Amino acid sequence: MPPRTRAPSKRESPRPFLKWAGGKRELLPEILKDLPKGRLDLYIEPFLGGGAVFCELARLGRIGRAILGDRNPELVDTWRAVQAQPEALHAAFGQWGTTEAEYYEVRGLDPAALSPLDRAARVLYLNRRGFNGLYRLNKSGGFNVPYGRYATPPRLDLDNLMAVHRALQGVELIQGDFDAVLERVEPGATVYCDPPYWPTSATANFNFYDGLVFGPGEQGRLAETFRGLAGRGAWGLLSNSDVLATRALYKGLKFRAVLCRRQINSKVDARGPVSELLVRTGG
Ligand SMILES: C[S@@+](CC[C@H](N)C(=O)[O-])C[C@H]1O[C@@H](n2cnc3c(N)ncnc32)[C@H](O)[C@@H]1O
Repeated sequence: MPPRTRAPSKRESPRPFLKWAGGKRELLPEILKDLPKGRLDLYIEPFLGGGAVFCELARLGRIGRAILGDRNPELVDTWRAVQAQPEALHAAFGQWGTTEAEYYEVRGLDPAALSPLDRAARVLYLNRRGFNGLYRLNKSGGFNVPYGRYATPPRLDLDNLMAVHRALQGVELIQGDFDAVLERVEPGATVYCDPPYWPTSATANFNFYDGLVFGPGEQGRLAETFRGLAGRGAWGLLSNSDVLATRALYKGLKFRAVLCRRQINSKVDARGPVSELLVRTGG
């Protein structure tokens, strides 16, 4: 008889440690359906964000090697701190209080003048103490989210940081454009791309996360690289909004529309589900 696998306990299960716009927790069951089954020898995720898909695959024990990346330097610093020194990071997070005055003081700190550990702790702090757990930078790259009034401010769960820390051992974290990560594709790799979505309305714009644009040019460049994955022997899955422009970009590849409850920041919007596209290179 094959050995019985034990379901991981909550304590051992890595979960995203940041609330991230566009986080994929809700779509996980659909995303898992479209990934190859079983163990993934090399998993590559170039738009990591809060890492919902990576955490879930790690929880299921399905990842061999992994290469993860994101363009946002502060975000990648935070993942690196969790990888290298989760306990010190947890302690650094605890150095600041929860009052409004303290929040604005921490928000006003210059990240470039902080140690990498304090810089990462500040990201976790602002994400948990700011309004709605939102991450938003202005055009000059400053964090401009107002103070969040919580009856009980969200805590930073050390057990979870430790679980993510374990999942990250041996993982390569790259800060940079998706191209730098996708250059690393090898035959047999599984790639999941979750770029900033193509806007669904004419009034929405293309720059969401870091004050930098992910416009039609970047969307086109990504589509081209994504189309090339099958020829390099890799499996690709990509999510984006379901609009005419994305259907045109991925025309000819296999895609399906999935319904997802619309998220406004961390809240579920009452206007009902929206359609999103899952595009894959094979299967
Ligand atoms: C939709 S989010 C990913 C969310 C993630 N799947 C999750 O579960 O939290 C898109 C991410 O792409 C990153 N990004 C934007 N432009 C990029 C680029 N040119 N190359 C790599 N990452 C980029 C953003 O910093 C953001 O974290």
